Amino acid sequence: MAVGIFDSGLGGLTVLDAAQSRLPDVPFKYFADSAHAPYGVRDADDIYELTTAAVGRLFEEGCDLVILACNTASAAALRRMQEGWVPRNKRVLGVFVPLIEALTERQWGDNSPPREVAVKHVALFATPATVSSRAFQRELAFRAIGVDVEAQACGGVVDAIEDGDLILAEALVKSHVDALKRKMPHPDAAILGCTHYPLMEQQFQAALGPEVKVFSQGKLVAESLADYLTRHPDMLGQGQATGYLTTGDPGRVSDRATQFLRRKIEFQAA
Ligand code: DGL
Repeated sequence: MAVGIFDSGLGGLTVLDAAQSRLPDVPFKYFADSAHAPYGVRDADDIYELTTAAVGRLFEEGCDLVILACNTASAAALRRMQEGWVPRNKRVLGVFVPLIEALTERQWGDNSPPREVAVKHVALFATPATVSSRAFQRELAFRAIGVDVEAQACGGVVDAIEDGDLILAEALVKSHVDALKRKMPHPDAAILGCTHYPLMEQQFQAALGPEVKVFSQGKLVAESLADYLTRHPDMLGQGQATGYLTTGDPGRVSDRATQFLRRKIEFQAA
């Protein structure tokens, strides 16, 4: 039994870490497509090809359920994968819905019509591909009315994090928050719509100010995964052991992952 967690690189570790704390007995297979990161500057066809190749590899590793711990892949490829590519006995889930359910204070499976919610002005920080897909606004519109979303494409942040250049990442976060605030001076909530960004969550919160509630996906996705596995225990799959795969240089990726999670993480070549 193993659940697959996929990201273009290190960002999905923020989801993996929360999932491991919430489900300590579940083995996870993590796949970082580091050789092809960042995905956020690629087009939808390219993201689809890369994501299906990586998820196919996780199926081979014995995973029946794979979480796309990558908003960019969830936005650009997930629907197409679910419509025509995912085999009948496998499942691929994204990371948008748990986040939007939290923002709109909905329980899982609440399919009632869209309604007014407490938040009115939402800042979305995401990759250029996620922002241009408008997938977040689409999912939100199914559940809430009267919410004004201002999206900021945060070019460069993922590259800086992947390179371990956190000084550059912090400077870019500040400048993207400033740019957002010029368009929306007083957001009530901010969405970290890229799984890399929780690694800079303190910097986002500091730049936004204490009155802005920052939503990130780690715990929300972990909670929804726990709920899903309670309802579908058969989706745990065949794989037995936790492991980490990368298309990049395993030594370099392991060093960065160990730095971010502050525990030893060893990647193998995919
Ligand atoms: N961490 C990913 C996301 O959530 C992908 C970032 C990228 O590769 O550009 O969007």
